[in-house]
Amino acid sequence: MSVILVQGYHPLKGEIEIQGSKNAALPMMAAAILHKGTTVLKHVPRIQDVLCMMGILESMGCACVLEGHTLTVDAKTVRDIQIPEENGKAMRSSIMLLGALLGRCGEAYVHYPGGCSIGSRPIDMHIRALRQMGARIREEDGILHGTAVKLKGVPLSLPYPSVGATENIILAAVAAEGTTTLKGAAMEPEVEALCRMLNAMGANISGAGTGIIEIRGGSLLHDGEYTVPGDRIVAGTYLSAVMAGGGSAVLKKSSPDHLGRVIETAGAMGARIKVDGGDMKILMEGRPGAACVVTGPYPGFPTDLQSMMLVLMSMGQGQSRLKETVFEGRFATAKELRKMGAEIIIEGKEALVNGKGRLKGACVEAHDLRGGAALVTAGLGAEGETRVTCCHHIFRGYEDICRDLKNLGADIRREG
Ligand code: EPZ
Repeated sequence: MSVILVQGYHPLKGEIEIQGSKNAALPMMAAAILHKGTTVLKHVPRIQDVLCMMGILESMGCACVLEGHTLTVDAKTVRDIQIPEENGKAMRSSIMLLGALLGRCGEAYVHYPGGCSIGSRPIDMHIRALRQMGARIREEDGILHGTAVKLKGVPLSLPYPSVGATENIILAAVAAEGTTTLKGAAMEPEVEALCRMLNAMGANISGAGTGIIEIRGGSLLHDGEYTVPGDRIVAGTYLSAVMAGGGSAVLKKSSPDHLGRVIETAGAMGARIKVDGGDMKILMEGRPGAACVVTGPYPGFPTDLQSMMLVLMSMGQGQSRLKETVFEGRFATAKELRKMGAEIIIEGKEALVNGKGRLKGACVEAHDLRGGAALVTAGLGAEGETRVTCCHHIFRGYEDICRDLKNLGADIRREG
């Protein structure tokens, strides 16, 4: 079992480049099977989930080569439509293959997806939309068997701007006959990146980022090359790390344009942030001030940075409030932070935090990807040593959190 050890009270200083976005790269990899040819993705993060998705594509008959951060997917041949159970259950993004395979092959066997245990995470919106597009989807023993003679473009609307459902619909609609108009679509930057990539391959998609997306299906796709944007959640994690440990940092390729609400909140808590093109320059002196944060769909405060916010509120001054509106089970990290001296009261969707000024190092457990990363940042602002166990969660989404934070001057190492 991997453990990360962090020594607190080491102000950070340095410059790092932010990895490519996990949540953009994964749907883009699924999109590659819509084209019977070669797709090249650059700035792909070398993370567990990308390797897992490569395994899925290879099991279907595609050839995947990851050289450095450039991934080449040759999808000329897709001969198997069954997603391997282990890979399918290892992450949420495997559900993207349902729309992509129905579009490419007219059939798919996909297990209920896995991913972080941050709530029930149903897939009803995915299934309802694909059925409206003409797919027959049967659920048997945790396996979804989908068939579609030919998907049809139809008017659709989502009751909630689900990121995954929006992406699944886009993948299916690109291959469908006719036009799909999706209302209530997610506006996350990762959805926009997927649409830009598909348009670069010859698809005809408009409205990404506006909430109403129109996909004119049936275009013939061609070989394409696309660069994955910087991971805004990783950038937000390291912004939180500087705020927790104090000091300064330059985060290059950090997609600051997609971190508006986060930068606004961090500024109100005392961080001095200068955006310079795609880079963020951060200076943090003293302890974070109190804040009141509500998470929500983009452009709201991202739920993926909610645990980091709990950390900063816990080591800050004054009373803060945090409301989680996206995932009902995303407060698991609070229990671990209490072991470090945090005072967090959870009432339903709300957390009330009394800032303690400093935390104390402890042995804590990562329960999910972003919660684990938050515990590492908590260790930077805690007295003594913090041991974070079950770090395999963190390696799913962070290329090398120890390397990155060490390059910013942190006293951090990995065991096992
Ligand atoms: C994506 O998950 C991200 N994952 C998540 O990041 C992110 O937290 C989330 O979007 C919200 O921004 C990837 O992109 C791989 P949703 P997704 O569908 O698509 C409910 C990380 O740490 N819902 O927008 O699963 C759902 O239960 C991960 O990188 C339904 O009810 O999120 C949740 O309450 C964690 N029915 C809400 O919608 C459905 O059919 C938002 O889920 C689908 C979703």
